[in-house]
Amino acid sequence: MAAVSEVREKYINFFVGKNHKIVPPASIVPKDDPTTLFTSSGMQPLIPYLMGKPHPLGKRLVNSQPSIRLGDIELVGDTSHTTFFEMLGNWSLGDYFKKEQLGYFFEFLTKELGLKKEKLFVTYFNGSKSIPKDEEVILTWRKLGVSDDHIYGYSVEKNWWSRCGAPQEMPVGEIGGTDSEVFYDFGISHNPAFGKTCHPNCDCGRFMEIGNSVFMEYVKKGDGMFTKLPQSNVDFGGGLERITAAVNNTADIFKIDVFQEIIQKIESFTGKNYSENANVPAMRIMADHIRAAEFLIESGVVPSNRDQGYVLRRLIRRFAVKMFTLAGMASLEKFRQSNLVHTTVKEELEKFSLALGKGFRVLDKMAKENSGAVFSGEKAFLLYESYGFPVEVTDELVRQKGFIKGVDKKGFLERKSEHIKSSQKFSKGLFKGGLADKSEETKKLHTATHILHAVLRKVLRANISQKGSNITSERLRFDFSFNRKLTDAELLEVEKIVNEIIKSNVAVKCEEMSLEKAQKEGALAFFGEKYGNRVNVYSIGDFSKELCAGPHIKNTKELGKFKIIKQESVGSNVKRIKAVLE
Ligand code: ALA
Repeated sequence: MAAVSEVREKYINFFVGKNHKIVPPASIVPKDDPTTLFTSSGMQPLIPYLMGKPHPLGKRLVNSQPSIRLGDIELVGDTSHTTFFEMLGNWSLGDYFKKEQLGYFFEFLTKELGLKKEKLFVTYFNGSKSIPKDEEVILTWRKLGVSDDHIYGYSVEKNWWSRCGAPQEMPVGEIGGTDSEVFYDFGISHNPAFGKTCHPNCDCGRFMEIGNSVFMEYVKKGDGMFTKLPQSNVDFGGGLERITAAVNNTADIFKIDVFQEIIQKIESFTGKNYSENANVPAMRIMADHIRAAEFLIESGVVPSNRDQGYVLRRLIRRFAVKMFTLAGMASLEKFRQSNLVHTTVKEELEKFSLALGKGFRVLDKMAKENSGAVFSGEKAFLLYESYGFPVEVTDELVRQKGFIKGVDKKGFLERKSEHIKSSQKFSKGLFKGGLADKSEETKKLHTATHILHAVLRKVLRANISQKGSNITSERLRFDFSFNRKLTDAELLEVEKIVNEIIKSNVAVKCEEMSLEKAQKEGALAFFGEKYGNRVNVYSIGDFSKELCAGPHIKNTKELGKFKIIKQESVGSNVKRIKAVLE
């Protein structure tokens, strides 16, 4: 059985042999892109270079990029979908184009990996009102020896790629292009439930997409029209796990090494076998979710109730629900006490398992007392609030109990926002920016706190969030979500960067705007705080943008020298830094 690591190495070496330079993978939490929670493709961190900025490593790049796609979460459980995967990628930044790209990938698949060309099916863009059919792609595949009955044309729905989907869905400024995909044919007979005829994009399980060559050459302009980018690029991405499954000729990607290692452990904790069909979807979901969760934790994400932290929490909880349903609380306990996962996962499981059994009993009772197609949003909120059941977990469970339309999501959200409003009223007055007074000293320390917050995110490469702030005229105290203490080197690095920002004489700007606009612009907010509809957003150069009532000083040069005097842990997931200005 070929291992994932071998396929990764072969791919990278192959493209290095074609004069590509290796780009290190980007952080799973995008550093400068508040529009998405996770890096979801290898091209995402390369957007500026696809748009024309010269890349320091040249015009030919290759890497393997850990990626998360939450859009596919509902599909996890089938043979080929996962939330977390590694994307093999190669790029031409205005260098080679269609012929070379398709030739390289075909050579890699058939010569390096030894896949039979009869098992490969390929696609091309078959034209729209504004963009012609891709004759060059058809000719190239023919020349490479792919027979016509293995070449399929599709419209923009299938053979156009941008991060946002079809051209009409792209926001202004987004880049995209037509593409050509390669599918592997597992030879499994067609399941008629998926329609009469089978073709590469059919979801019956016979074909699996193993690579996508995007010819990235368009950008959407303000008037909704497309214009050409300054250069024609290639953006290739292929799922490493899927390619490995093709090499092993297994239509079930969960049979490859990286998943089997996890599934075997799940089997030993649950006493259930993957070979039994009834266990398969749950085991696939568990394997995917725990692998994703472990990766997120290694990348510095901490479970919380928002953003990346909440995704992590949901992955762990859904894992727990699946294990509980499959084999009961005892197996979950055993798993939790094993040394197989990070302490963070164990702590999350511990918290959640206390409520899990109870939550299940309450849900059973609710389901018995109610009937119909839709499960009440109010009740789903109660399960969320009292037992920590993510709404999609409740949705899945009640569907199994006969509520065929699942949870009333709208009702759930309404109940949730009412709840947030009333608890905000409760906390009103408790948080006033944490300032003891409005002296010059506290103003300075307050501005330094904003810089510190931004720099911590940068140095720790994690979307840490503020958990508290308290400022006296002597020192600042900043509490934030993070699951371990910072190393001495990290503390020094934080101090150094804060001081560099201070020294670069950056103006502190304040702008009033709607809360909605501030959130769209990615301004950081402290969610213990209550905000009105109009808010002040303070920015310090490009480094920091936060919703805040002030007051602040006008320019960082007024701050003097920043020094961290103490680090403390105020809970497993909250760290505290005290600092002064000298
Ligand atoms: N960026 C392209 C994709 O994700 C290659 O399919």
